[in-house]
Amino acid sequence: MWKSRKGGIMKKWLIMSVWLLLCLASCQQGEKRAISDEQLAEVFTLAKYQYVMLDQQLTDSTMPRTVQADGSLRTSDLNWWCSGFFPGALWYIYEFGHSQNISYMAMKQTQKLLPLLDMNTDHDIGFQLNCSFGNAYKLTGNDLCREVLVEGARKLAARMNPTTGVIRSWDFLRKGWKYPVIIDNMMNLELLMVGAQLSGDVELGLVARTHADTTMKNHFRPDYTSYHLVNYDPETGEVLSRETVQGYADESAWSRGQAWALYGYSMMYRETGDERYLAQARGVADMLLKRLPEDGIPAWDLDDPSADALRDVSAAAIMASAFIELSEHTGEAAYMHMAERQLLTMMTPEYLAKPGENGGFLLKHGVGNLPEKSEVDVPLSYADYYFLEALVRYWKHEV
Ligand code: GLY
Repeated sequence: MWKSRKGGIMKKWLIMSVWLLLCLASCQQGEKRAISDEQLAEVFTLAKYQYVMLDQQLTDSTMPRTVQADGSLRTSDLNWWCSGFFPGALWYIYEFGHSQNISYMAMKQTQKLLPLLDMNTDHDIGFQLNCSFGNAYKLTGNDLCREVLVEGARKLAARMNPTTGVIRSWDFLRKGWKYPVIIDNMMNLELLMVGAQLSGDVELGLVARTHADTTMKNHFRPDYTSYHLVNYDPETGEVLSRETVQGYADESAWSRGQAWALYGYSMMYRETGDERYLAQARGVADMLLKRLPEDGIPAWDLDDPSADALRDVSAAAIMASAFIELSEHTGEAAYMHMAERQLLTMMTPEYLAKPGENGGFLLKHGVGNLPEKSEVDVPLSYADYYFLEALVRYWKHEV
């Protein structure tokens, strides 16, 4: 009898110990996460509310772009480089909350972009199709999405000139440009990598690697900041000039350009396992850790000397998403801490809209193109997209 009682006590003690260990583990886990699941859920509830509102204001040929001075929504046509961000953001809202209503809306908005395959698009077809059809395919496995991604990737790869070793960005020419390539183009390589995986066409992956290698050689300064634009001679492949068209000066570090570089090389490491891309991403990340302000939201250009330089929330959102990915590749806690700081700042009322405000967008204070005085200190569809992507990545990140 004593033996069986002793056995019972031992069993209870064992159960209690396991329970205590589990509690301790989950408390430690809780302590490690600077942003709780409840806080994340609050943002996604807001996102759902705002994005249903945006959806109701669109036609079959428009997408949300920004907000006008009178507070009303400014839409774009489907050819605008940002047209994939609204459907893509809807897919992230669906991924977090699994609302059927949102998935129908996301598919409807995604399919609106089908005509892009027949249009004369530029390098931005990567942004347009991968953010929309790419996310749709990951979440639904839909065959049509797969076909669109492969066809889109082939269209993008056709823009590669083997003499320059880079995909041409803009088709328009200014100031003596012959073959302009912008750092933003690193982002479009993801469509090529996805297309290669879905089709088995290794050529698509080779085009992406060639572009990433040439960009690594020609776009960066020794301190890992990136020029915005490199102008090539398409006949010889020679670099003719280096500029920063959307930034403060040719020699300055335009913040969104640095964000594209960080994200682009972290993504290329994920897709290829090539350690050179990881080293490049780390170089950019470490430069940013030294130069970002305490709250993590950069001025629109890191070299704008004015004390009250406008902040660009879009650069912060892209960086946050990339920092999370890079922290997973490297195990570097400093990258995750920076992403957390950026996300927490973006979740304050200074940056995050209240329900029904901000024209239906989430984030305030984005800077599109300050030198052109276009979209200055406004909501931007891509700021919202990368903010939601970062939050989904954070939510899925194993601590
Ligand atoms: N890709 C255009 C921009 O970042 O403004």
